[in-house]
Amino acid sequence: MKLQGKAALITGAGSGIGRAIALLFGAEGASVLVAELNEEAGRTVAREIEDAGGRARTLPTDTSREEDVKAAIAAAIDAWGRLDILVNNAGIGGAAYTWDQVIAVNLSGVYYGCLHGLETMREQGGVIVNMASMAGLVGFAVAGLPEVFGSAPGNAYIAAKHGVLGLTKQFALAGAPGVRVNCICPGWIETALTQPLTQAQPLLDWALQGTPMGRLGQPEEIAKAALFLAGDDSSFMTGAPLIVDGGWTAR
Ligand SMILES: NC(=O)c1ccc[n+]([C@@H]2O[C@H](COP(=O)([O-])OP(=O)(O)OC[C@H]3O[C@@H](n4cnc5c(N)ncnc54)[C@H](O)[C@@H]3O)[C@@H](O)[C@H]2O)c1
Repeated sequence: MKLQGKAALITGAGSGIGRAIALLFGAEGASVLVAELNEEAGRTVAREIEDAGGRARTLPTDTSREEDVKAAIAAAIDAWGRLDILVNNAGIGGAAYTWDQVIAVNLSGVYYGCLHGLETMREQGGVIVNMASMAGLVGFAVAGLPEVFGSAPGNAYIAAKHGVLGLTKQFALAGAPGVRVNCICPGWIETALTQPLTQAQPLLDWALQGTPMGRLGQPEEIAKAALFLAGDDSSFMTGAPLIVDGGWTAR
C-alpha cells in the first residue's frame, strides 16, 4: 500500500480519470475526499471505495468557486485531521461551453486548489497533482475537431491547460521543499469528456492516427501516473509535467 495513512482530496472524482484516481488511491490505503459537482456521482464513487474496504467521504463542490475549494480542503481536515495529497482534476471541455466557463473550471479552479492547498500543506508537507493535458503542451489542428478546437471553448481549453503547466511550476517554487507540485498531461483517454469523439468514426480515426500507440488511453493508466506523483516514488520531482499521451506530442 503506497498511500497508507495519507489523506487525499480529489476534485472531479465522480467520473473518468478522477474516479479512477480515487479508486486507486483508496485501494492504496489513502482516505479519499471525493469533491464533485455531480453530487450523486460523488456519492457513488465514495461508496465504491468503501465497498472495496477503503475510507471515503464526498462533498458537493464546484471548483470554479473559490469558497467551494476552501470548503473541500476544510472538509478533508475535518474528517482526517490532515491533507497530504490534493489532485486538482476537475475539468470540462467541448462545444457546449463558453470561454469563461472553461477558464473558470480548468484554470481558476486549479489555481484555487494550488493556492489553498499549499497554504494548508505548507507546515506538514504534501503533494499537489494538477490535471493538465497534452493540450497544455501543443496546439490542436482545427481540422480534427473544428466545432471544438476552432472555437472559443477549444481555444480556452488549450489556454487553460497551458496555464496549468505555468501554475504547476509557480507553485512548485512556492512549495519547495516541503510541498511538491507536478502535473499530468494525458492524451486521448476514454471518458465521458471524449465521448463525442469516440462516437464519431472520422474523429476517432483522426485521434488514433495522431496517437502512435494507435489506441485511446484508459483512465486507470492515468491513475497509475497520479499514484507515482502522489507517492514517494517521485520524491525528487517537482514543477514537472508527466506526459501520458501514447506518443501524441512526440510527433
Ligand atoms: N479524457 C481525456 O482525454 C483527457 C485528456 C487530457 C486531460 N483530461 C483532463 O482530465 C480531467 C478529467 O477529465 P475526464 O476525461 O475524466 O472527464 P469526465 O467528464 O469523465 O470527468 C470530469 C468530472 O469532473 C466533474 N466536474 C466538472 N466540473 C466540475 C467543477 N466545476 N467542480 C467539480 N467537479 C466538476 C464532472 O462532474 C465529472 O465528474 C479534466 O481536467 C480533463 O481536462 C482529460
